[in-house]
Parts: sequence; structure tokens; C-alpha cells
Amino acid sequence: MAGPLENKNVVLGVTGSIACYKAVDLASKLVQAGALVDVVMTYGATQFIAPLTFRAITHRNVVTNAFDINSESAIEHVSLAHRADIVVIAPATVHCIAKLAGGLADDALTTTVIATLAPLLIAPAMDANMYDHPATQENLEKLRQRGVVIAGPAQGRLASGLMGMGRLLETPELLGHISATLGRKGDLAGRTVVVSAGGTMEAIDPVRVITNHSSGKMGYALAEAARDRGANVVLVTAASGLAEPAMVKVVPVRSAEEMCDAVLERVQSADALIMAAAVADYRPSIQADQKIKKSEDDLSIALTKTTDILQAAKGNFVRVGFSAESQDLVKNAKVKVQSKDLDLIVANDITDPDSGFGRDTNKVALIGRDLQVEELPVLSKYEVSNRVLDRVLTLFRS
Ligand code: CTP
Repeated sequence: MAGPLENKNVVLGVTGSIACYKAVDLASKLVQAGALVDVVMTYGATQFIAPLTFRAITHRNVVTNAFDINSESAIEHVSLAHRADIVVIAPATVHCIAKLAGGLADDALTTTVIATLAPLLIAPAMDANMYDHPATQENLEKLRQRGVVIAGPAQGRLASGLMGMGRLLETPELLGHISATLGRKGDLAGRTVVVSAGGTMEAIDPVRVITNHSSGKMGYALAEAARDRGANVVLVTAASGLAEPAMVKVVPVRSAEEMCDAVLERVQSADALIMAAAVADYRPSIQADQKIKKSEDDLSIALTKTTDILQAAKGNFVRVGFSAESQDLVKNAKVKVQSKDLDLIVANDITDPDSGFGRDTNKVALIGRDLQVEELPVLSKYEVSNRVLDRVLTLFRS
């Protein structure tokens, strides 16, 4: 399965804000992800950035005028509106938001919005005081009530020099919101999926930990793929350094015990649990309050077994485990299907150069309760996730 933006018709509305320059990057990343991007600019936007910039990036006409006599289509805004899989306005100015809330249609962009049945996502960008103004807040609330997705804004330094709410979200976050919005009626809509990610950290003392090489990328890819198929996703993560996926409920944890508590609490109302995390099997029996000083040549640390989260998580939901192995991959994974009473296990050989910790690809085998082995080729972690989710969907249906 291709990425979530492949061959999607995205109408990108750009309005007159200093953040217009970021819309160029967004258009570029959308095109790179396989989307067909039609840019519609307001007059204000053309004061900040030349339409030619978007033309060069998208290889498509840029609409700046609702009354363009040379337009290829007779009624440009209607044809764009009908073709769109999603309309994204980034950046959306305070004036544009007010016009949308009022249902006005006085330029190419607002007429496109009012003529489309596609989902609308707007990413506000403005000075903090403009964002905080009751009129803006009311307008945003009105749009939310109508089902418009409001992405951001973020807190931070604004062009005025003020610190506050009003920054346009960064491109990766916007891409996440766009993918999630495109997929909200997907085949996992209405389902809740709990995903765990990353390697847990078990404190030895205030300075040292026992951990492992898990990057968390597989769990994050699963969370994004499930979100992009419409699921409500809870990501219980011990990973660090990965960007929080947009429109996913993120629960940060550190130790196996914290992960266990967070997973057991969330999974009760879930339809599936996918344990992609590398959970410590043992933790130091005693966690020293103070830093352990160097003294003897040898130091032994007593370890205590942690709770097996998958085994502890019992209930009426699909249970998927991972099995990272350095030898006897299929044999070991089959044992885990039975010992942990799993619906599915995703087995990967961490010694394979295409697989494992920190990589963007994975080569896995899927093994269900019947112990049949489905070997997958080397795929991106996002594609692996979709193959896992295909199996989860089949399990839901059965
Ligand atoms: N797992 C878990 N709780 C633990 C340890 C593991 O829920 N305390 C889950 C992992 O998230 C994974 C599956 O169990 O989905 C298998 O984990 P793995 O580390 O491969 O196997 P273990 O059961 O720990 O056995 P071993 O380390 O001996 O291979």
C-alpha cells in the first residue's frame, strides 16, 4: 500500500501571512509524497510570495483569480472543489477565518471552499493578540462545529517579536493532520487502537539506566498508519527524539512498570493492543537514591523480573505482539504466540541489515494463532504497519 497522500487531490489555499513561505515547503513535501497539489492564492498571499514559486513546485496552474478568462476549466473553483480529496488552507489568516465562518465567497479560495464537499483543514497563522481576540475564537469554534479541522496554531516566537499562540504548524505536523483527515473515514474508523513504542528505561540510580536499542520508529509508524485509516490511536511511548504524531493521543512513559500501568488503563476501552515496544524483562531490584560511587573492581546489580504486559492485558480486544529475535526467528515467535496467547505476532530478525532497530525499513513475518507464517518482503515501517493492520482488521471482522 502506498503512502497516505499518494494520488490524493489536495487543494492548498494560501492566504496573506508572513508564514506563506512555509506553505512552499508544505507544497513541496505534499508533491514528494505523491499528492496532486492545486494551489489557490489570495491577493494577500501574492504580496508575500510569487505564484511562480508554487507553479514550479507543483507543476500545475496556480489559481489567483476567480475570474481568470484564460483558465483551462470554465468554472475553475467548481472544478477544483469537485476534484479535491481535501482542501487545506495554510496559512489561514484571521480575515480568511472570519470569511469562512461567515460563509462568504468573494475570491477564488473562499468560493472553492464553499463549493466543495471535501474535508476542510485550516492552519491558522497570526499574531497572538489576533488569535486571542474573541471574534477569532468564536469564528474558529463555529468552524469546528461544522466539522472543519483546525490544525494549530503553535506557541512560540511570532513575526511581531511577541511570544504567544499564532505560529503556523511545521510541515511534518501539517502533513500528519492532512493524512489523518484524509483517512478519517477509513476502514478502522470507530476503532480504538493502543500501540506501545520504544525501549523502556529502568533506573539503576539517578544517573544510570538499563535500556535497549529500540528507536520507537516501528510503533510510531503503526500509530500513524492506524490513524490514517481512521482509528483513534493511543500511543504509549518510551521513545525519545521522535516527533509526536499529529492527532494521536500520546502517553509518555519511561519504565516497564509505567508502560504496564498506562497500557492496562487504556486498553480496557480499546479494540486492539499492539505491543511494538521493547519492554525490559528485568529491572534493578533496588533503585539507589544517590549516584552509585565507583569503588570495587566488580559491581553486581540484582535484577527482578518485570510484569509481562501482553500477558497481563486480558480482555475483549485483539492482541498483537512483536518478536525481535537474533536466532530461530520463526520457532521463537511461534512459542510466544502460544505462551502469550496472541492473535498475531510480528517477528523480525534484528540481525538482518534491512530490519530492526533504528531503521526505516523492516522485514518481518506475520504469524497468527494457526501458526501459519506469512513472510513479507522488505518494506517501509509504514507499509509493514499497514500489513499488520490488514490482519488486525480481518481479526475484527472475524
Ligand atoms: N512484552 C511485554 N512485556 C514485557 C516484555 C515483553 O508486553 N515485560 C511484549 C513485547 O512488547 C513484545 C512481546 O512481548 O510485543 C515479545 O517481546 P520479546 O522481548 O520479543 O520477548 P520476551 O517475552 O521478552 O522474551 P525473550 O526476551 O526471552 O525473547
